[in-house]
Amino acid sequence: MSASAIPGLERVLFTEEQIDARIRQVAAEISQRYQGRTLKLIGVLKGSVFFLTALAKYIENPVKIDFLAISSFSNKSGSPGLVRIAKDLDEAIEGEDVILVEDIVDTGFTLRYLLQTLAGRAPNSLSVCTFLDRNSRRIVQVPVDFRCFEIPDRFVVGFGLDSNQLYPNLSYVAVMKP
Ligand code: IMP
Ligand code: MG
Repeated sequence: MSASAIPGLERVLFTEEQIDARIRQVAAEISQRYQGRTLKLIGVLKGSVFFLTALAKYIENPVKIDFLAISSFSNKSGSPGLVRIAKDLDEAIEGEDVILVEDIVDTGFTLRYLLQTLAGRAPNSLSVCTFLDRNSRRIVQVPVDFRCFEIPDRFVVGFGLDSNQLYPNLSYVAVMKP
């Protein structure tokens, strides 16, 4: 969909070409860091699906893929950051070199929860690769090993990221009007 056809869009932040070029670079970093090892990429549904498939194609290691889904909610007092697993992985990760693949790291609550959960399953190694990083909104500190783009404090859609489920299919990343 062209950006001009979407009423709520303000501007394109990263074009399809920029995204592809950057993902190739990050895939090369990953391939170099994990030379000779088999990787298990774990995608967080649904936002990371577009990124994970693009990234996986450029990684030069043997790769396995698994997915989990989470749901975030607030408790009665309205405090944010509560996360639970809505769909777990299909396979164990014990002894594997795991890269958790995220669409965006924002406050860090989701990532902290996922890292704690996965670390408890005895992988050989566990790292994080995120498509977007909005570091300015971080509340809990989390390690991010690989990132494609740092973004400003604005809501974005496209390349897997949605707004009320809409627009994950944009081939670019765009900022929504406030
Ligand atoms: P957090 O790091 O726990 O705050 O949560 C990050 C999650 O919030 C991401 O995985 C997205 O699902 C969602 N999210 C945060 N910012 C955006 C955005 O700008 N567009 C779409 N989804 C977002
Ligand atoms: Mg997500």
